[in-house]
Amino acid sequence: MFVSWSHFSCSLKKALSSSFLPALVIFVCPAASHATDSSTVYQVNENFRQNANVQDLSLFEEAKKDREFFWSKQAHNLDWFQPWDTVLEWDPPYAKWFLGGKLNASYNCLDRHLNESASKIALLWEGERGEERSISYDQLFNEVCKFSNVLKNLGVKKGDKVAIYLPMIPEAVVAMLSCSRIGAVHTVVFAGFSSDSLKDRIIDAGAKFLITADGSFRKGKIVSLKEMADLALASPTPVEKVVVVKHTEVPVPMNEERDFWYDTLMADAKEECPPESMDAEDELFILYTSGTTGKPKGIVHSTGGYLLGATMSLRWVFDIKPADIYWCTADVGWITGHSYVVYGPLSNGATVLLYEGAPDHPERDRFWRLIEKYGVTILYTAPTAIRTFMKWGEQWVKDHDLSSLRLLGSVGEPINPEAWEWYYTHIGRKNCPVVDTWWQTETGSIMIAPIPALHPLKPGSATKPLPGVDVAIVDEKGDSQTSGFLAITTPWPSMLRGVHNDPVRYQSTYWKKWDKGYYFTGDGASIDNDGYVWLSGRIDDVINVSGHRLGTMELESALVDHKAVAEAAVIAISHEIKGQAIVAFVSVKEDVFNHPGLEDELKQHVVKKIGAIARPERIIFICELPKTRSGKIMRRLLRDVAEGRVIGDTTTLSDPSVIEEIKLKYQED
Ligand code: PRX
Repeated sequence: MFVSWSHFSCSLKKALSSSFLPALVIFVCPAASHATDSSTVYQVNENFRQNANVQDLSLFEEAKKDREFFWSKQAHNLDWFQPWDTVLEWDPPYAKWFLGGKLNASYNCLDRHLNESASKIALLWEGERGEERSISYDQLFNEVCKFSNVLKNLGVKKGDKVAIYLPMIPEAVVAMLSCSRIGAVHTVVFAGFSSDSLKDRIIDAGAKFLITADGSFRKGKIVSLKEMADLALASPTPVEKVVVVKHTEVPVPMNEERDFWYDTLMADAKEECPPESMDAEDELFILYTSGTTGKPKGIVHSTGGYLLGATMSLRWVFDIKPADIYWCTADVGWITGHSYVVYGPLSNGATVLLYEGAPDHPERDRFWRLIEKYGVTILYTAPTAIRTFMKWGEQWVKDHDLSSLRLLGSVGEPINPEAWEWYYTHIGRKNCPVVDTWWQTETGSIMIAPIPALHPLKPGSATKPLPGVDVAIVDEKGDSQTSGFLAITTPWPSMLRGVHNDPVRYQSTYWKKWDKGYYFTGDGASIDNDGYVWLSGRIDDVINVSGHRLGTMELESALVDHKAVAEAAVIAISHEIKGQAIVAFVSVKEDVFNHPGLEDELKQHVVKKIGAIARPERIIFICELPKTRSGKIMRRLLRDVAEGRVIGDTTTLSDPSVIEEIKLKYQED
């Protein structure tokens, strides 16, 4: 048995230490109130205003007068096979929208555009190595119909769950729309997730089918997705059949009974596939997102309400028009990819740019090259990307003609005013409104964002809720305040319909905080004198790294899964580029040799368990975690240490001396 030096010193320090820190009680408020009404305000130019999709407040007035009537009027913007007879049935916390209505999401994204826009480009795709594909609406329709038949031939039935683990290639869109065409429920797993994450999602969703690819390209390297998929399926899962898209052309092992090449199946597929008539409330997809427990939640979205939210928000916030070349840089593995790469834009008949690859490959101007080359008019990206571009410097931007751009969007985390100004100045050339859009996997579509021709913009504020969306900033009791928790106070069409297989978690996570039927967002916010909402970030145990949600418990479970780790506590620290970064405090088992390579080994273990986005920034080895007498880890104190703040109340700690040790260790590392 090895006894490490660090462990020996742990025991020694513990024995010697008896000092008590003075008790300090700090009142922690979820959001600092914002003195913001004096900040610089930006208005769109007259040309934008005169041509905007929304030019007056009538939508807001209609929604205020009669919310249900408003949403039912908006729902006529979708094509229905059968009209609904009840707009909303609200039996808190369960909402049903457009009851009795029948429609199909794939039909709305494809078939309904074929009369007028069959030859219009639906997808412009560019691979990292510069390959190009351009796919018109009728070509996409044909591909989707054929792949729908492929899925049917493989045995996929209405209501079946289909996992999709694909890179950003047109086949990802085809796969999603084919599922919705035949009434199968897709669950897209971000291709950057590990095989363990893929497996967990497949099992939780009960997916009998998996669609993947031989691999993907990232920063000039090949990532073998098929290998990951094989690993995920190495021990029992419900998956019976796997479709593999040939993309990298690197040979991969194929299991003769289970695996089928996409191309081979498509070669024999029939071309006609009428869309399944779906109830408005039928599940469209499940998408997993991190929460405050170790296990990600399968967020369930409906067909009618979800599609309505995605479709209308794009018209209102992004001002989408037929001539736009629209680029949302999100991956289809996230909700932004679902709503604003696939369903929203295609339902609006837009031309969508897809790019598979990194923004700095081969050079740091790849995004600006793409905008210039394709004449992108609307760009939707994340603050973390904007901060990265800021760091790389204007020299990568300035030689590119970005004059095609007319609107810029931001999503994923609060955008700091400096990044907003940089985006506005260097990318938008002071000529494009920047719309900061607040929403979540659970909300399905944008909830708080400017309507650009109506709301003057304040850098750092997502401005006001969209028409038909009611929010409040409330305190613990649910009473209105200028600073506190962000709540959504009435049901909205694109709201989640539940957590897959876990109604208890659905209730307790989102609807239990207050007894008013309010939805708890998990975010802190404040509101200024103009009624503008300022988001301040998560107030629960969720970390937002580069706009991606990760639960502290999920990260801690990954760490303690390593044989050397006794206990782990994870917190977020502010990070210049990523917004937040992960810091893990770890105690190792008594018989473990804490060797110099252990930190890297643990980081790699987390990557293996979850994916590269979850790699901790720092791991601090400590003797003991700060815990209450009942054994609850006090992460709040770890956050105080990491942010260099005055340490909060330590009187409830079972051993208050540990915090001094942790402080020393944090500074020393
Ligand atoms: O904390 C908020 C933050 O991202 C969370 C939702 O994460 P996810 O479900 O992964 O969806 C991300 C894309 C919609 C929110 O609870 N967030 C998202 N957009 C913003 C934001 N925080 C501030 N401002 C935003 N615009």
